[in-house]
Amino acid sequence: MSTEPDKRIIAVFGATGYQGGSVVKHFHNNPATPNLVMRALTRDPTSAKAVALSNTGVAVAQANLSDPSTLKTALEGVHGVYLLTDFFATFFTTLSAEAETQQGINAFNVIASIPTIEHVIWSSAPSITHVSGGKYTNVVHMESKAKVTQYVKEKLPEVWKKTTELYIGAYYQLWVQFPQFFAPKKVEDGGAWVMSAPCGEGLILPGVDVRDTGATVHGIFLKRTELGGKTVSLVGDDTTGTGDRLKTWGKLLGQKTAWNKISDEVLVGNLSALGIPEMLVTDMADTNFAFRDFEGKILHGEGIVQAKDILPDGKKLTTWEEYVKTENWDSLIQSG
Ligand SMILES: NC(=O)c1ccc[n+]([C@@H]2O[C@H](COP(=O)([O-])OP(=O)(O)OC[C@H]3O[C@@H](n4cnc5c(N)ncnc54)[C@H](OP(=O)(O)O)[C@@H]3O)[C@@H](O)[C@H]2O)c1
Repeated sequence: MSTEPDKRIIAVFGATGYQGGSVVKHFHNNPATPNLVMRALTRDPTSAKAVALSNTGVAVAQANLSDPSTLKTALEGVHGVYLLTDFFATFFTTLSAEAETQQGINAFNVIASIPTIEHVIWSSAPSITHVSGGKYTNVVHMESKAKVTQYVKEKLPEVWKKTTELYIGAYYQLWVQFPQFFAPKKVEDGGAWVMSAPCGEGLILPGVDVRDTGATVHGIFLKRTELGGKTVSLVGDDTTGTGDRLKTWGKLLGQKTAWNKISDEVLVGNLSALGIPEMLVTDMADTNFAFRDFEGKILHGEGIVQAKDILPDGKKLTTWEEYVKTENWDSLIQSG
């Protein structure tokens, strides 16, 4: 895995996915960062997504966060790391959140042993139990990441000093990625697309175009000295209420829309009816309730640096309206 001596390698976990894919795309052959080269990490370099990356000239290497023996080679000689753990990849096989925590710990233990690493960007999340003062304790996909952060702060303080924690809002892409959970539903042929949620339509929820991850990571690298040991929050269009987002979507796609405020109990019932594991029902329900009740403290808490304030080259984060205009909605519309 050698490279030209003046080049600095950034290893990217999740390079075949949304966040890591955005990071690789942003930096690969970017004239603004000529000395940075990407090392895209994947469990399977022969997968279609990994081969597609390789075909664009990106160096692809094998790494499995559940297998620490693969991580030393994958991170050898690198200058920086974009570290992402995938909650869902392990949850559906183990029905537990502990495997994700262990993956993060595996990675940080290896990072601690590699002296060339000067900066880590850790795609993390806050503890909702902590933020909500113990009111909502079931958001396991965020607690599992917060436990990794706690481990690094306590056990690897020198690594923490060169780590920037990145919180990422709910992807705008969730409507097309998991329509059954997040998209409005068309109630009947010719009827409106109805969004059912346990909040009023004026509530502002922290959404983001996940394709802005790369530019955010660039901004963090540029300020890496001051952002070591700090938290950056990536939240895109944070002034549009959820109801207005729905209306904008309907207007741009020529669809009728309607808001349906439901009770907390109805939300839990709706989630249970999807046949998903109980732990995911309570996770998703508490996620909804916590972002409704405590949003100001979750991604906009005290001391958290906002991505929009550190983006390079005057770049702006994508608004919901801009995102809607660029997404392919065919599959969702045809499902209605
Ligand atoms: N959806 C949201 O709104 C949102 C918001 C904030 C944070 N998150 C968090 O984002 C994470 C998912 O990120 P994403 O959406 O970018 O992923 P994604 O598009 O679903 O893809 C998952 C990525 O994780 C990699 N991966 C999975 N298991 C791995 C393992 N054992 N070792 C190494 N790599 C592994 C996969 O690589 P290969 O398959 O190539 O190995 C793939 O690149 C989750 O933890 C989620 O909680 C999501």
